[in-house]
Parts: sequence; C-alpha cells; structure tokens
Amino acid sequence: MNKAIDPALMQAAEATGSTAMDAYWMPFTANRQFKKAPRLLARSEGMYYWDEHGRQILDAVSGLWCVNAGHARPRIVKAIQEQAAELDFAPSFQMGHPKAFELADRVAKLAPQGMNKVFFTNSGSESVETALKMAIAYHRARGEGSRTRLIGRERGYHGVNFGGISVGGIVSNRKMFGTLLNGVDHIRHTHDPARNAFSVGQPEHGVEFADDLERLVGLHDASTIAAVIVEPVAGSTGVLIPPKGYLQRLRDICDKHGILLIFDEVITGFGRTGNPFGAQTFGVTPDLMTLAKGITNGCVPMGAVLAKQKIHDVFMSGPEHLIEFFHGYTYSAHPLACAAGIATLDTYAEEGLLTRAGELEGYFAQAVHSLKGEPNVIDIRNIGLVAGIELAPIAGSPTKRAFDIFLDLYEKGILVRTTGDIVALSPSLIVERAQIDQIVDMLRGAIRRAA
Ligand SMILES: Cc1ncc(COP(=O)(O)O)c(C=O)c1O
Repeated sequence: MNKAIDPALMQAAEATGSTAMDAYWMPFTANRQFKKAPRLLARSEGMYYWDEHGRQILDAVSGLWCVNAGHARPRIVKAIQEQAAELDFAPSFQMGHPKAFELADRVAKLAPQGMNKVFFTNSGSESVETALKMAIAYHRARGEGSRTRLIGRERGYHGVNFGGISVGGIVSNRKMFGTLLNGVDHIRHTHDPARNAFSVGQPEHGVEFADDLERLVGLHDASTIAAVIVEPVAGSTGVLIPPKGYLQRLRDICDKHGILLIFDEVITGFGRTGNPFGAQTFGVTPDLMTLAKGITNGCVPMGAVLAKQKIHDVFMSGPEHLIEFFHGYTYSAHPLACAAGIATLDTYAEEGLLTRAGELEGYFAQAVHSLKGEPNVIDIRNIGLVAGIELAPIAGSPTKRAFDIFLDLYEKGILVRTTGDIVALSPSLIVERAQIDQIVDMLRGAIRRAA
C-alpha cells in the first residue's frame, strides 16, 4: 500500500541536492557513498517506512532495534503531542514531574525481582556511563574504594562514549580514540563457530567461556574489580547468543568475588527475546541493567539504568539535604520522553508485545534457518525475534558482501542492518508471519545475487 506523502516533505526531500547534503556529518555512515545515492525516509507506520518518493519499505530491523511496537503508534503519538503542549520541560535536578515517577514505577514493575530503582538518561551510551559510575561509586560508598576496575567482553558494544568504548570490544570503535579509560580489561567473547554454527536458540557449547573471568580475577585480584558488563545477547557485533549456562556462571563468579554484574539490555530490553528483559529469558538477574531504545519505542530519546535496591540504599546515607549521587543529565526524565514511555508501555501491555517474540520464536527460527545452504552463509544465530546471518567475506574486501546485500534489499523494499559480514534481523514485535516470510525470501534472493 503506497500512501500519499505530504507534498511539503516531498519538496524538502527534492531540495536535498548534493550541496544541501554537505553540512550533515552522518553517524556510523559511509558519508560519501550515502551522499552519492541517498536513502531518505519520509514517513513511517506499523511495519513500514516510505521513502521520499513514496516507495514502501518493510522495516526488518525496528528502525535501529528500537521501534519494538512498530512505527507511529497512535497512543504514543498522541501522548507526545499532548505532553508538548502541557509541560514541555521540567528541570531534572532538585525538581521533578509526576510522569517521571510514574514511568520509573512502571519500568520497575516489569523488571526482575529486586531491581526496583530507575535512573533516567537519554540514550544507551549514557546509560552505560551511568551504570559504570554507579558501580565504582557504590563500592567506594561502602568502603571498598579499591574496586575501580571495569571488565568488559571482547566484541561487546556499549555505546560510543569513553566508558562504553573502553569496556566495549569492537576494534573499529576503539582503535582511533587513544588510550581510553585506564583499569579496564576484557573477558573473551563467546563466538565459537567450530562447535556452535547454525545453533537454533542458545548454543550448547561454551559455558566455560565464563571462566575467563576467574583468569582476570587471578591477574588483577577481586579487590580491584568493581563490575563486569556484558550484553545478554551481543547485538551490534552481529548477534551472539549466550551459550547455555554461560550467564549463570558469570553471575556465580561475580557473587563469589563481590563483583557487580551489569547487563546491557539496550537491545534485549522490552521484549526482544520473549520477555520484558533478557535477564528473565535467561533466568539470571544482574545488579544493574542498562536500557534505552524500546523504552519509548524509539520515539523520543531516552535511556535508563535499573539498579537493585541494595545498590541504591548504599548511596542513601549522610545528611538528607546533600545530593547522594553527583550525576545526571539536563534531559534526564524529560517530560516528552516520559509521556512517550508510559504510552509505549501501555501499548506493549495492551497488545501482549513483551512476550510475543517468544510466541513467534519457533516460526522465525525456522524461517531464518531455511537460509542454511545458501551461497556463502557460514552461520545463522537466533533467539526471540532477533537473528544474525553470517556470510563469508569477499577475499580482500571484508564487509562488502553484507553491505551489497543491504543496498540490494533496500532497493527491493526491505530494510535490514549489517555489521561486518553479518546481516541482522530484528523486526518489530508486531511483525506478522507473512512479513517474516517476505523478509527471509527477499534476503535469500539478495544472498544469491551477492554470490
Ligand atoms: C547493547 C547496547 N548498548 C548501548 C548502545 C548505545 O545506545 P545509544 O546508541 O542509544 O547510545 C547500543 C546501541 O545499539 C547497544 O546495542
């Protein structure tokens, strides 16, 4: 269905000739390639985008893993519109507004037992910085100020700020930016294609990769380590699913040594794996959890850190008139974001979306695994409504095969995401079976054409 595009939008889009595109330095984008052949989106609704020419594009990646309830949901749109007219901004330091408390309460009610304190930020990257600072400050406040070391994981993605890229493990996001934070180390990643290629759901092998944390404890001593941060499912590196038992073993090692466990649930949060949070899907509760994206259905920037009561309570000492945690953002708990967040959670609840990925997981898995045997497909990984299809790189031109597939699919009206030579699918939780079939059939064609 091609819907008419607002003529003003068309005009604006047509005005974007090459000189009009000069000023915008685009993030995580091949700028020169893009500006030679721009891909401009003009409108969105449900599972679809429309480009500036009115061409319909099926969104197989929830925008950027964030529009979990689908695009332009009426309840969310209305809430943002009404909020802008009612209370546009409220200072977040020493002041509050009712919807901030309401949203915090709603998020805490979805969380694993005991994770009941919510600190608002504006993005996943800010949530990560916040959680890392909380972890270090927590240990200091309880008298163990030597625990300052942060442990990440190879291939991890935790946003783009200095803390996040320091604990992160994606080489291209780190190598250009100097020495990063001091006192950071990494456990090994969990990717093991020799044993786990084409696993459906959680791989069988690799629980012992968690023992790498014991190696780092042996090297640095637990008394220097504040926290370990991992994504329950590593998304941006190309969808790595945790081996069975792995997250529980990490939890056990952290408990043994008094180390805080942080789950970065920026992608896995809000229904991606079949439960509100990955922690629930995998049955492992961290001490801190970072959130963003799906908290507002991607409509208004917002992030959050969920903390266990015991962490929060350590800060609540000293004279009551003093600030307990010297951290926060001008736009923490912005009224527009809170309104969008509450309407988003209402939409998830009304439509049962936070568990729908679990209902569709079998169908989705069968569809994506039908790509096994297609040319250059060397691995397929899936859980809930997320999948990674890994392709053999073109010799001498890594990433090109997947990028060509991305461009080809966009031409044909499907939006996917690629990282390295991996195609990632993470459709909105409203996706229908027929749309899953369409996405996979189109991807199959593109993989064949790229052979
Ligand atoms: C696991 C994880 N953490 C953090 C981030 C950063 O979020 P943002 O881009 O909102 O800063 C992302 C973004 O994809 C992510 O996947």
